[in-house]
Amino acid sequence: MRIVWSNELETGVRTIDLQHEELIGMINELSDAHLARDQPALLNPIFQRLDSYLHFHFGTEEALMAGLPKSSPLNAQLSSEHLRQHQTFIEQMTAIRARAEAASEDAPGELVDFLSNWLYEHILKTDRHLGALLNEQRAQSLE
Ligand SMILES: [Fe+2]
Repeated sequence: MRIVWSNELETGVRTIDLQHEELIGMINELSDAHLARDQPALLNPIFQRLDSYLHFHFGTEEALMAGLPKSSPLNAQLSSEHLRQHQTFIEQMTAIRARAEAASEDAPGELVDFLSNWLYEHILKTDRHLGALLNEQRAQSLE
């Protein structure tokens, strides 16, 4: 699946949206390289770049989450669920990556599918929810 950036993926928080666009670009680049049957040696640099950008991006979202008011139990619950999703994702990605390095034939394709599907679903459900909370808080602070 190739992710195409569209309005439905917008969180309404510019920093997050720009980073998501960047991530989608990198995942599609990885997908194109894989479909072109590039060797793992050529896929690796793209993946390394994507991996460090993912960590940077999760850091951005988690810092924004940490700034949400602690008084709301709902915020706390959503934030801890969001953190859990990021952590599980990193674990799953590392496992697939390890299989790819062990030269399993279908691992790069599996990795591309996993990254595309996860990011799409995560942005649509979890990150958009975070965006709504951040914008709500911003609106309240301006009142
Ligand atoms: Fe997220």
